[in-house]
Amino acid sequence: MERIDEFLEERKENNLLRVLKPAYSRGDGSIYVNGKKYIDFSSNDYLGLSTHPKLKKVSSEALQEFGTSSCASRLLSGDSELCHSLEERIAKFKGKEAALIFNSGYQANVGIISALCEKRDVIFSDKLNHASIIDGMILSGARFFRFQHGNFCHLESLLKKHRHNFRNSLIITESIFSMDGDRAPLKEFVELKESYNCKIMVDEAHATGIFGQKGGGVIEEENLTSQIDIIMGTFGKALGSFGAYVASSLQLKKYLINTSRSFIYSTALPPAVIAASLASLDLIEKEPYRRKTLLEMADYFRRELKRYGFMVKGSSQIVPLMVKDSQKALTISQELQSKGYWVLAIRPPTVASGEARLRFSLMYNHTKNTLERLINDICKTSCIRYARKCS
Ligand SMILES: Cc1ncc(COP(=O)(O)O)c(C=O)c1O
Repeated sequence: MERIDEFLEERKENNLLRVLKPAYSRGDGSIYVNGKKYIDFSSNDYLGLSTHPKLKKVSSEALQEFGTSSCASRLLSGDSELCHSLEERIAKFKGKEAALIFNSGYQANVGIISALCEKRDVIFSDKLNHASIIDGMILSGARFFRFQHGNFCHLESLLKKHRHNFRNSLIITESIFSMDGDRAPLKEFVELKESYNCKIMVDEAHATGIFGQKGGGVIEEENLTSQIDIIMGTFGKALGSFGAYVASSLQLKKYLINTSRSFIYSTALPPAVIAASLASLDLIEKEPYRRKTLLEMADYFRRELKRYGFMVKGSSQIVPLMVKDSQKALTISQELQSKGYWVLAIRPPTVASGEARLRFSLMYNHTKNTLERLINDICKTSCIRYARKCS
Protein backbone atom coordinates (compact mmCIF):
# COMPACT_ATOMS: atom_id res chain seq x y z
CA MET A 1 0.00 0.00 0.00
CA GLU A 2 1.18 3.51 -0.87
CA ARG A 3 0.39 4.83 2.60
CA ILE A 4 2.83 2.39 4.18
CA ASP A 5 5.66 3.34 1.82
CA GLU A 6 5.03 7.05 2.42
CA PHE A 7 4.92 6.58 6.17
CA LEU A 8 8.16 4.59 6.31
CA GLU A 9 9.91 7.00 3.96
CA GLU A 10 8.88 10.04 5.98
CA ARG A 11 9.87 8.52 9.32
CA LYS A 12 13.23 7.47 7.89
CA GLU A 13 13.91 10.92 6.44
CA ASN A 14 13.22 12.56 9.80
CA ASN A 15 15.27 9.98 11.66
CA LEU A 16 12.12 8.91 13.52
CA LEU A 17 11.74 5.36 12.25
CA ARG A 18 11.64 3.08 15.27
CA VAL A 19 13.31 -0.29 15.02
CA LEU A 20 13.47 -3.23 17.39
CA LYS A 21 16.74 -3.99 19.15
CA PRO A 22 16.80 -7.47 20.69
CA ALA A 23 18.47 -7.67 24.09
CA TYR A 24 20.40 -10.88 24.56
CA SER A 25 19.78 -10.80 28.28
CA ARG A 26 19.20 -8.34 31.10
CA GLY A 27 18.97 -8.18 34.86
CA ASP A 28 20.82 -6.90 37.90
CA GLY A 29 20.95 -3.43 36.36
CA SER A 30 22.67 -4.53 33.12
CA ILE A 31 21.55 -5.24 29.59
CA TYR A 32 23.38 -7.02 26.75
CA VAL A 33 22.68 -5.76 23.24
CA ASN A 34 24.63 -6.88 20.14
CA GLY A 35 27.06 -8.74 22.38
CA LYS A 36 27.95 -5.64 24.41
CA LYS A 37 27.17 -5.09 28.08
CA TYR A 38 25.58 -1.80 29.15
CA ILE A 39 24.39 -0.38 32.46
CA ASP A 40 20.65 -0.40 32.02
CA PHE A 41 18.84 2.93 32.46
CA SER A 42 15.82 1.94 30.40
CA SER A 43 14.14 -0.73 32.50
CA ASN A 44 10.88 -0.57 34.43
CA ASP A 45 12.16 -3.35 36.69
CA TYR A 46 12.86 -0.62 39.24
CA LEU A 47 13.51 -2.90 42.21
CA GLY A 48 15.46 -5.51 40.26
CA LEU A 49 12.94 -8.23 41.11
CA SER A 50 12.65 -9.80 37.65
CA THR A 51 15.84 -11.81 38.25
CA HIS A 52 15.35 -12.34 41.98
CA PRO A 53 16.02 -16.01 42.91
CA LYS A 54 12.72 -16.29 44.76
CA LEU A 55 10.65 -15.19 41.75
CA LYS A 56 12.57 -17.55 39.47
CA LYS A 57 12.11 -20.44 41.91
CA VAL A 58 8.34 -20.10 42.41
CA SER A 59 7.89 -19.48 38.71
CA SER A 60 9.74 -22.66 37.72
CA GLU A 61 7.85 -24.65 40.35
CA ALA A 62 4.52 -23.42 38.95
CA LEU A 63 5.74 -24.22 35.44
CA GLN A 64 6.56 -27.79 36.46
CA GLU A 65 3.26 -28.22 38.27
CA PHE A 66 0.82 -26.53 35.89
CA GLY A 67 2.61 -26.37 32.52
CA THR A 68 3.25 -23.37 30.32
CA SER A 69 -0.26 -22.06 29.69
CA SER A 70 -3.56 -21.47 31.44
CA CYS A 71 -5.11 -22.86 28.23
CA ALA A 72 -8.31 -20.77 28.17
CA SER A 73 -9.85 -17.45 29.17
CA ARG A 74 -10.89 -17.11 32.82
CA LEU A 75 -14.62 -17.35 32.14
CA LEU A 76 -14.15 -20.61 30.25
CA SER A 77 -11.70 -22.98 31.97
CA GLY A 78 -8.60 -20.78 32.40
CA ASP A 79 -9.45 -19.68 35.95
CA SER A 80 -7.28 -21.04 38.75
CA GLU A 81 -6.81 -20.88 42.49
CA LEU A 82 -3.58 -18.99 41.84
CA CYS A 83 -5.57 -16.19 40.13
CA HIS A 84 -7.90 -15.96 43.13
CA SER A 85 -5.00 -15.93 45.61
CA LEU A 86 -3.35 -13.12 43.67
CA GLU A 87 -6.58 -11.13 43.53
CA GLU A 88 -7.12 -11.49 47.28
CA ARG A 89 -3.54 -10.46 47.89
CA ILE A 90 -3.81 -7.38 45.66
CA ALA A 91 -7.10 -6.29 47.22
CA LYS A 92 -5.47 -6.41 50.65
CA PHE A 93 -2.27 -4.74 49.44
CA LYS A 94 -4.24 -1.87 47.90
CA GLY A 95 -6.75 -1.64 50.77
CA LYS A 96 -9.75 -2.27 48.53
CA GLU A 97 -12.66 -4.71 48.77
CA ALA A 98 -11.74 -6.67 45.64
CA ALA A 99 -9.30 -6.95 42.75
CA LEU A 100 -9.36 -8.35 39.22
CA ILE A 101 -6.33 -9.41 37.18
CA PHE A 102 -5.88 -8.33 33.57
CA ASN A 103 -3.31 -9.69 31.12
CA SER A 104 -1.42 -6.41 30.79
CA GLY A 105 -1.67 -2.78 31.81
CA TYR A 106 -2.67 -1.89 28.28
CA GLN A 107 -5.52 -4.39 28.35
CA ALA A 108 -6.56 -3.26 31.82
CA ASN A 109 -6.91 0.42 30.94
CA VAL A 110 -8.63 -0.26 27.63
CA GLY A 111 -10.93 -2.86 29.19
CA ILE A 112 -11.86 -0.94 32.35
CA ILE A 113 -12.53 2.44 30.74
CA SER A 114 -14.45 1.09 27.75
CA ALA A 115 -16.65 -1.03 30.03
CA LEU A 116 -17.33 1.79 32.49
CA CYS A 117 -18.13 4.69 30.19
CA GLU A 118 -20.41 5.18 27.22
CA LYS A 119 -21.90 7.83 24.96
CA ARG A 120 -23.82 9.73 27.63
CA ASP A 121 -20.76 9.95 29.90
CA VAL A 122 -17.80 12.28 30.13
CA ILE A 123 -14.14 11.63 30.98
CA PHE A 124 -11.58 14.20 32.18
CA SER A 125 -8.09 12.91 31.52
CA ASP A 126 -4.63 14.34 32.21
CA LYS A 127 -2.96 15.37 28.96
CA LEU A 128 0.05 13.13 29.65
CA ASN A 129 -1.93 9.99 30.48
CA HIS A 130 -0.64 6.77 28.91
CA ALA A 131 -1.75 5.68 25.41
CA SER A 132 -3.75 2.79 26.91
CA ILE A 133 -5.94 5.30 28.79
CA ILE A 134 -6.46 7.34 25.62
CA ASP A 135 -7.36 4.21 23.65
CA GLY A 136 -9.80 3.14 26.39
CA MET A 137 -11.50 6.53 26.22
CA ILE A 138 -11.79 6.42 22.43
CA LEU A 139 -13.19 2.90 22.53
CA SER A 140 -15.74 3.81 25.21
CA GLY A 141 -17.53 6.30 22.94
CA ALA A 142 -17.74 8.78 25.85
CA ARG A 143 -16.98 12.46 25.34
CA PHE A 144 -13.58 13.28 26.78
CA PHE A 145 -11.62 16.38 27.71
CA ARG A 146 -7.88 16.45 28.37
CA PHE A 147 -6.76 18.85 31.09
CA GLN A 148 -3.29 20.40 31.19
CA HIS A 149 -0.83 18.10 32.86
CA GLY A 150 -1.33 18.04 36.64
CA ASN A 151 -3.33 21.28 36.47
CA PHE A 152 -6.30 21.00 38.84
CA CYS A 153 -7.39 24.60 38.07
CA HIS A 154 -7.75 23.68 34.40
CA LEU A 155 -9.57 20.49 35.40
CA GLU A 156 -11.98 22.53 37.52
CA SER A 157 -12.70 24.93 34.68
CA LEU A 158 -13.52 21.99 32.40
CA LEU A 159 -15.71 20.41 35.08
CA LYS A 160 -17.60 23.69 35.57
CA LYS A 161 -18.21 24.02 31.87
CA HIS A 162 -19.06 20.46 30.89
CA ARG A 163 -19.90 18.18 33.84
CA HIS A 164 -23.62 19.08 33.97
CA ASN A 165 -24.17 18.04 30.33
CA PHE A 166 -23.45 14.39 30.99
CA ARG A 167 -24.75 11.49 33.04
CA ASN A 168 -21.67 9.88 34.65
CA SER A 169 -18.25 11.44 34.89
CA LEU A 170 -14.81 9.91 35.39
CA ILE A 171 -11.53 11.69 36.19
CA ILE A 172 -8.43 9.69 35.14
CA THR A 173 -4.82 10.28 36.02
CA GLU A 174 -1.58 8.40 36.55
CA SER A 175 -0.09 8.87 40.01
CA ILE A 176 3.56 8.86 38.80
CA PHE A 177 3.89 9.82 35.15
CA SER A 178 5.95 7.50 32.99
CA MET A 179 7.79 10.07 30.87
CA ASP A 180 8.00 12.98 33.34
CA GLY A 181 8.50 11.04 36.58
CA ASP A 182 6.33 13.55 38.42
CA ARG A 183 3.34 13.11 40.72
CA ALA A 184 -0.32 14.01 40.17
CA PRO A 185 -1.98 16.34 42.72
CA LEU A 186 -4.28 13.55 43.90
CA LYS A 187 -5.68 15.39 46.96
CA GLU A 188 -6.91 18.25 44.79
CA PHE A 189 -8.36 15.84 42.23
CA VAL A 190 -10.23 14.03 45.01
CA GLU A 191 -11.73 17.31 46.25
CA LEU A 192 -12.89 18.08 42.72
CA LYS A 193 -14.35 14.64 42.15
CA GLU A 194 -16.40 15.09 45.32
CA SER A 195 -17.57 18.62 44.47
CA TYR A 196 -18.56 17.68 40.92
CA ASN A 197 -20.00 14.24 41.59
CA CYS A 198 -17.47 12.24 39.57
CA LYS A 199 -15.64 8.95 40.01
CA ILE A 200 -11.86 8.89 39.92
CA MET A 201 -9.51 6.26 38.44
CA VAL A 202 -5.77 6.31 39.15
CA ASP A 203 -3.12 4.36 37.24
CA GLU A 204 -0.35 3.41 39.69
CA ALA A 205 1.79 1.53 37.13
CA HIS A 206 4.97 3.43 38.05
CA ALA A 207 4.19 3.98 41.75
CA THR A 208 3.31 0.50 42.99
CA GLY A 209 6.14 -1.09 44.94
CA ILE A 210 8.00 2.23 45.17
CA PHE A 211 5.91 4.67 47.21
CA GLY A 212 3.99 4.24 50.46
CA GLN A 213 4.95 2.67 53.78
CA LYS A 214 3.91 -0.78 52.50
CA GLY A 215 4.92 -0.08 48.91
CA GLY A 216 1.25 0.22 47.92
CA GLY A 217 1.85 3.38 45.84
CA VAL A 218 1.19 7.11 46.02
CA ILE A 219 -2.45 6.56 47.00
CA GLU A 220 -1.33 4.64 50.10
CA GLU A 221 1.35 7.24 50.87
CA GLU A 222 -1.17 10.09 50.68
CA ASN A 223 -3.78 8.14 52.62
CA LEU A 224 -6.40 8.44 49.87
CA THR A 225 -7.37 4.79 49.39
CA SER A 226 -11.00 5.17 50.44
CA GLN A 227 -11.52 8.23 48.21
CA ILE A 228 -10.13 6.72 45.00
CA ASP A 229 -12.81 4.61 43.34
CA ILE A 230 -10.67 2.65 40.89
CA ILE A 231 -6.99 1.84 41.36
CA MET A 232 -5.20 0.29 38.42
CA GLY A 233 -1.63 -1.03 38.48
CA THR A 234 0.72 -3.41 36.70
CA PHE A 235 2.90 -6.38 37.64
CA GLY A 236 5.36 -5.72 34.82
CA LYS A 237 7.23 -2.80 36.34
CA ALA A 238 8.51 -2.64 39.95
CA LEU A 239 6.96 -6.04 40.65
CA GLY A 240 9.23 -7.69 38.08
CA SER A 241 6.53 -9.96 36.66
CA PHE A 242 3.81 -9.42 34.04
CA GLY A 243 0.12 -8.51 33.89
CA ALA A 244 -2.04 -5.92 35.63
CA TYR A 245 -4.96 -5.47 37.99
CA VAL A 246 -7.77 -3.23 39.10
CA ALA A 247 -8.53 -2.82 42.81
CA SER A 248 -12.02 -1.55 43.53
CA SER A 249 -15.40 -2.46 45.04
CA LEU A 250 -16.66 -6.02 44.68
CA GLN A 251 -19.58 -4.68 42.68
CA LEU A 252 -17.24 -3.15 40.09
CA LYS A 253 -15.22 -6.37 39.90
CA LYS A 254 -18.40 -8.38 39.15
CA TYR A 255 -19.41 -5.82 36.53
CA LEU A 256 -16.01 -5.96 34.80
CA ILE A 257 -15.98 -9.77 34.75
CA ASN A 258 -19.21 -9.54 32.77
CA THR A 259 -18.50 -6.58 30.53
CA SER A 260 -14.80 -5.89 30.06
CA ARG A 261 -13.95 -7.29 26.66
CA SER A 262 -10.16 -7.35 27.11
CA PHE A 263 -10.74 -9.45 30.25
CA ILE A 264 -13.36 -11.76 28.76
CA TYR A 265 -11.83 -12.50 25.37
CA SER A 266 -8.24 -13.29 26.24
CA THR A 267 -6.41 -16.36 27.55
CA ALA A 268 -5.64 -16.06 31.27
CA LEU A 269 -2.06 -15.33 32.32
CA PRO A 270 0.20 -18.41 32.60
CA PRO A 271 0.40 -19.88 36.14
CA ALA A 272 4.18 -19.29 36.28
CA VAL A 273 3.60 -15.55 35.81
CA ILE A 274 0.93 -15.41 38.51
CA ALA A 275 3.19 -17.29 40.93
CA ALA A 276 5.96 -14.74 40.29
CA SER A 277 3.57 -11.84 40.99
CA LEU A 278 2.56 -13.42 44.31
CA ALA A 279 6.21 -13.86 45.30
CA SER A 280 7.04 -10.31 44.35
CA LEU A 281 4.28 -8.99 46.64
CA ASP A 282 6.00 -10.89 49.48
CA LEU A 283 9.29 -9.21 48.65
CA ILE A 284 7.72 -5.74 48.47
CA GLU A 285 6.47 -6.35 52.00
CA LYS A 286 9.62 -7.94 53.42
CA GLU A 287 12.32 -5.91 51.70
CA PRO A 288 11.32 -2.23 52.00
CA TYR A 289 15.00 -1.24 51.82
CA ARG A 290 14.89 -1.76 48.04
CA ARG A 291 12.46 1.12 47.47
CA LYS A 292 14.13 3.29 50.11
CA THR A 293 17.58 2.91 48.50
CA LEU A 294 16.16 3.48 45.02
CA LEU A 295 14.44 6.73 45.98
CA GLU A 296 17.53 7.98 47.80
CA MET A 297 19.63 7.33 44.68
CA ALA A 298 17.05 9.09 42.49
CA ASP A 299 17.12 12.13 44.81
CA TYR A 300 20.91 12.19 44.65
CA PHE A 301 20.99 11.87 40.84
CA ARG A 302 18.37 14.57 40.30
CA ARG A 303 20.03 16.95 42.78
CA GLU A 304 23.46 16.52 41.19
CA LEU A 305 22.18 17.04 37.65
CA LYS A 306 20.47 20.24 38.78
CA ARG A 307 23.67 21.36 40.47
CA TYR A 308 25.44 20.99 37.12
CA GLY A 309 22.85 23.26 35.54
CA PHE A 310 20.63 20.73 33.79
CA MET A 311 16.89 20.81 33.67
CA VAL A 312 15.48 17.63 35.16
CA LYS A 313 11.85 16.86 35.86
CA GLY A 314 9.96 14.79 38.38
CA SER A 315 10.32 13.44 41.89
CA SER A 316 10.53 9.68 41.47
CA GLN A 317 12.81 6.88 40.23
CA ILE A 318 12.18 8.16 36.67
CA VAL A 319 14.55 11.07 35.94
CA PRO A 320 14.03 12.89 32.62
CA LEU A 321 16.86 15.18 31.51
CA MET A 322 15.35 17.71 29.12
CA VAL A 323 17.20 18.36 25.85
CA LYS A 324 14.18 19.59 23.83
CA ASP A 325 15.77 19.04 20.38
CA SER A 326 15.14 15.49 19.12
CA GLN A 327 18.33 15.12 17.11
CA LYS A 328 20.50 16.35 19.99
CA ALA A 329 18.77 14.01 22.42
CA LEU A 330 19.51 11.15 20.03
CA THR A 331 23.17 12.17 19.70
CA ILE A 332 23.61 12.38 23.48
CA SER A 333 21.98 8.98 23.98
CA GLN A 334 24.25 7.45 21.30
CA GLU A 335 27.34 8.94 22.94
CA LEU A 336 26.27 7.61 26.33
CA GLN A 337 25.65 4.22 24.76
CA SER A 338 29.18 4.24 23.36
CA LYS A 339 30.36 4.74 26.95
CA GLY A 340 28.35 1.76 28.18
CA TYR A 341 25.05 3.30 29.40
CA TRP A 342 21.80 2.05 27.89
CA VAL A 343 19.79 5.25 28.05
CA LEU A 344 17.18 6.14 25.49
CA ALA A 345 16.18 9.39 23.85
CA ILE A 346 12.44 9.94 24.16
CA ARG A 347 11.21 11.94 21.20
CA PRO A 348 7.95 12.96 19.53
CA PRO A 349 5.45 11.39 19.02
CA THR A 350 5.99 9.77 22.45
CA VAL A 351 6.38 13.28 23.94
CA ALA A 352 5.22 16.64 22.58
CA SER A 353 7.26 18.41 19.93
CA GLY A 354 10.18 20.33 21.49
CA GLU A 355 10.08 18.14 24.59
CA ALA A 356 12.72 15.54 23.66
CA ARG A 357 14.61 14.15 26.61
CA LEU A 358 16.80 11.43 27.96
CA ARG A 359 14.79 9.23 30.29
CA PHE A 360 16.89 7.72 33.06
CA SER A 361 15.02 4.91 34.69
CA LEU A 362 16.85 4.12 37.92
CA MET A 363 17.06 0.67 39.47
CA TYR A 364 17.84 -0.62 42.94
CA ASN A 365 20.82 -2.43 41.38
CA HIS A 366 22.56 0.80 40.38
CA THR A 367 25.09 2.24 42.80
CA LYS A 368 26.02 5.76 43.78
CA ASN A 369 29.42 5.20 42.15
CA THR A 370 27.77 4.33 38.85
CA LEU A 371 25.64 7.47 39.05
CA GLU A 372 28.68 9.63 39.81
CA ARG A 373 30.46 8.20 36.77
CA LEU A 374 27.36 8.67 34.64
CA ILE A 375 27.01 12.36 35.62
CA ASN A 376 30.65 12.88 34.75
CA ASP A 377 30.15 11.24 31.37
CA ILE A 378 26.94 13.18 30.69
CA CYS A 379 28.87 16.43 31.21
CA LYS A 380 31.41 15.33 28.59
CA THR A 381 28.96 14.56 25.77
CA SER A 382 29.22 16.86 22.78
CA CYS A 383 25.68 18.28 22.67
CA ILE A 384 25.17 18.58 26.39
CA ARG A 385 25.37 22.37 26.41
CA TYR A 386 21.94 22.32 24.74
CA ALA A 387 20.55 20.49 27.75
CA ARG A 388 22.08 23.17 29.99
CA LYS A 389 20.40 25.85 27.88
CA CYS A 390 17.04 24.25 28.66
CA SER A 391 17.19 25.34 32.27
C1 LIG B 1 1.12 4.49 33.06
C2 LIG B 1 1.06 3.19 32.34
N1 LIG B 1 -0.09 2.50 32.30
C3 LIG B 1 -0.19 1.33 31.65
C4 LIG B 1 0.89 0.78 30.99
C5 LIG B 1 0.75 -0.52 30.26
O1 LIG B 1 1.23 -1.55 31.05
P1 LIG B 1 1.71 -2.94 30.39
O2 LIG B 1 3.11 -2.74 29.96
O3 LIG B 1 1.54 -3.92 31.49
O4 LIG B 1 0.80 -3.20 29.24
C6 LIG B 1 2.10 1.45 31.01
C7 LIG B 1 3.27 0.85 30.30
O5 LIG B 1 4.27 1.41 30.03
C8 LIG B 1 2.20 2.69 31.68
O6 LIG B 1 3.35 3.39 31.68
